[in-house]
Amino acid sequence: MLSIDAARFLGRLAALAEIGRDGQGRRTRLAASDADRAGRDLVTGWMREAGLDVRVDRIGNLIGLWDPSGTGSGPVMMGSHIDTVIDAGAYDGCTGVLAGLAVIEALRAAGDVPTRPLALAAFTNEEGVRYAPDMLGSLVYAGGLSVEAALATVGTDGTVLGEELARIGYAGSEAPGTLRPHAYLELHVEQGPVLEREGVAIGAVEDLQGISWQEVTIEGAANHAGTTPMDLRRDAGVAAALLVAWLRERAGAGNGRSVATVGRLRLEPDAINVIPARAVLTIDLRDPDAGRLAAFEADLRQRLDGLARRENVTVTVRRLARFDPVTFDSGIVRRIEAAARARGLSVRRMTSGAGHDAQMMARLCPAAMIFVPSIGGISHSPAERTADADLVAGAAVMLDVVRDLCGT
Ligand code: GLV
Ligand code: MN
Ligand code: MN
Ligand code: MN
Repeated sequence: MLSIDAARFLGRLAALAEIGRDGQGRRTRLAASDADRAGRDLVTGWMREAGLDVRVDRIGNLIGLWDPSGTGSGPVMMGSHIDTVIDAGAYDGCTGVLAGLAVIEALRAAGDVPTRPLALAAFTNEEGVRYAPDMLGSLVYAGGLSVEAALATVGTDGTVLGEELARIGYAGSEAPGTLRPHAYLELHVEQGPVLEREGVAIGAVEDLQGISWQEVTIEGAANHAGTTPMDLRRDAGVAAALLVAWLRERAGAGNGRSVATVGRLRLEPDAINVIPARAVLTIDLRDPDAGRLAAFEADLRQRLDGLARRENVTVTVRRLARFDPVTFDSGIVRRIEAAARARGLSVRRMTSGAGHDAQMMARLCPAAMIFVPSIGGISHSPAERTADADLVAGAAVMLDVVRDLCGT
């Protein structure tokens, strides 16, 4: 069996983790920011050192290619992302990109000549924190959104994605999706508690839940906090609070599988003695079942209508992202299980709670994911951790599945 150079893989993960400290010392590498540029520069250098031909497409996806037998046929692609949320951990996304690099290097070191090219992708703006939707680079790669529309996306900070990519030097010239993969594999930390709780080393991810992102704006009327009777108020803050509480209750009605999050909530004018005239909040709904997710969305629309009437406010909704649940390729899932068992690793099938680039690539080619345990189930937090041995085991399983898929 071939092995991964663990010290180099883990060393690079640690080095990339140091890139992008913000003014408060937090790891924040938002898409197309200066921090993202620094991360991309580092990863591009490592890809070149590994002998990859690196290209950047028009939406800024970084793609490294190794075609030792010169076939030019569809590559087996590995990938993930290196952009982060605000105050992020070190593993989300970076693990998959750097493990892909380690896999290619392991094959090269062993003198293996795969009969198919291998490709490694670091997709633009997977997190969607600065520019919605999330998984934007892979969505464009898979043809689900035009490059022009994606480049025109306006961020939460008022910037335009295309201008920011040009500014950081990562607006490439190649049309996204030019390389049509034969198969796509993504290693990722689980970001949830299942593997750790069950003491299982490897997740063979067979599906991924649906996601619905909306921004809700509630307009009431500003007025004096001391003089306005409670029954005469048009309080956007109260309406927002009622909505947050309802979402939690409604999620609980989804067979324990629906989840709902209000991650942003802004009140205006944001003053202690002024009734809020406006509330702007984001809603993140997810469910592995398409019908249940659609029913939740329909209930939400009704709830917003009722809230508008009862609280005497107006409500407008802007859709930010909407992706149905995805089923991954059963053949690759079986190969992942077999590879894990052959290495003596425990494995279970599972559903991904998070969104991933693999869900977009599944539109183009057979795709699946490998999960490794997250300590305490924590992610999107600086407390995110995965044990070194688990990271290396996940990369080794990906190595074996890649060899299996390309036939060396
Ligand atoms: C991306 O990380 C998401 O699932 O929100
Ligand atoms: Mn991720
Ligand atoms: Mn993430
Ligand atoms: Mn993700």
